[in-house]
Amino acid sequence: MDKIIIEGGVPLKGTIEVSGAKNAALPIIAAALLTEEKCIIKNVPNLRDVVTMIKILRSLGVKAQMEQDCVTVEAKRCNQFVADYKLVSTMRASICVLGPLLAKQKQARVSMPGGCVIGQRPVDLHIKGLRALGAQLKIEHGYIVAAAKVLHGNNIFLGGAYGSSVLATANVMTAAVLAKGRTLIENAACEPEVVDLANFLIKMGAKIKGHGTPIIEIEGVKRLGGASHSIIPDRIEAGTHILAAAITGGALTIKKARVDHLSAMLDKLKEVGVSVVAEQNALHVKRKGSVLKPVDITTLPYPGFPTDMQAQMMAMATVSDGISVLTEKIFPDRFMHVSELNRMGASVFLEGASAIVKGVKRLSGAPVMASDLRASAALILAGLVAKGKTEVSRIYHLDRGYERIEEKLIKVGAKIKRVKE
Ligand code: UD1
Repeated sequence: MDKIIIEGGVPLKGTIEVSGAKNAALPIIAAALLTEEKCIIKNVPNLRDVVTMIKILRSLGVKAQMEQDCVTVEAKRCNQFVADYKLVSTMRASICVLGPLLAKQKQARVSMPGGCVIGQRPVDLHIKGLRALGAQLKIEHGYIVAAAKVLHGNNIFLGGAYGSSVLATANVMTAAVLAKGRTLIENAACEPEVVDLANFLIKMGAKIKGHGTPIIEIEGVKRLGGASHSIIPDRIEAGTHILAAAITGGALTIKKARVDHLSAMLDKLKEVGVSVVAEQNALHVKRKGSVLKPVDITTLPYPGFPTDMQAQMMAMATVSDGISVLTEKIFPDRFMHVSELNRMGASVFLEGASAIVKGVKRLSGAPVMASDLRASAALILAGLVAKGKTEVSRIYHLDRGYERIEEKLIKVGAKIKRVKE
């Protein structure tokens, strides 16, 4: 297994380019199951989760391949409808084949993704939404078993205890595009990744309005055709690089970042004392003074502060000048990184779904273990600013979501390397 070794304390300087968004690429690749024609999906990040999605498609009898940043899918011979436990258990986003399989193959058997370290991951909204379209769904032997001779449009309120759901919205949308009649999804997720999926479906011939708002209207069509699409830049990767510049007191130009997808983050960075200047397709990031100010954040569905940036923001708060409070409203147990940051000298304690972070002058490098994807990024950020050597193990999590991260960081001066354990 690989691990990452960082010698901290170098202010990062230079230019980093953001890759395509993993969370947009996965449901879009799955949506290519909705047509027998060829779909060409560009700007796809080369990540373990993308490879897993391609393997799932192949296991369904579909021709799918990736060359550089381009994924080609041809679902002419999609003759299977089972997404197996072995693949699904490695990636929760596998569940986004459920909607397309149900709409196109009229049946689907998708392994239940199960919980994960960031907390419970229920699927009730996926099931509720697809049932409202007329599908029969049951949980049997660890699988979601779904069938529908015909799907019918319906009005669906898609909200749960924690608000909207990104992948449930994706599943209902990808099923409703081939349903008979009109579907209205209320309390739909507004995340840019959902908008990107809708834009891809529209290119395939779907009739969708309101994507990007909490009410999405879909008029079902008889068939969809092939399409070519370029995935939006990854806002979470962009946000992580912004924090890398801020935490190390460096200055980075982040290319291909979409400023309109980062409003909640940029607003908080102003409070912290980080200057971010947007110019065409790039962001220029620089810390304003010698210290970072503390910050209070609450994670919320988009356009609120993203839960996928909470761990990285906490890494920055550990070295700010004061007390920060970070509250989780999406995944209340998503705090596995706290004990690892504390091993590096941070002062964080948990109070329910909030982390109280008392900034310290300096972190000290230590061997730490990554618990999940974004926690890995937080530990890398902490390692970049810590005194001495930090060794981050279990970085297979990192490889699920950050394309060539150490290569990108080396180019801007970080002393970071990947070694085999
Ligand atoms: C997606 C992202 C993930 C991000 C999350 C929240 C992908 C591949 N993953 O995950 O990176 O952290 O959005 O922005 O896009 N919930 C229910 N019932 C359900 C489904 C979800 O109660 O049926 C709850 C969840 O437990 C959570 C909240 O709804 O509290 C939001 O989760 P959701 O948006 O569904 O997350 P994902 O789509 O799985």
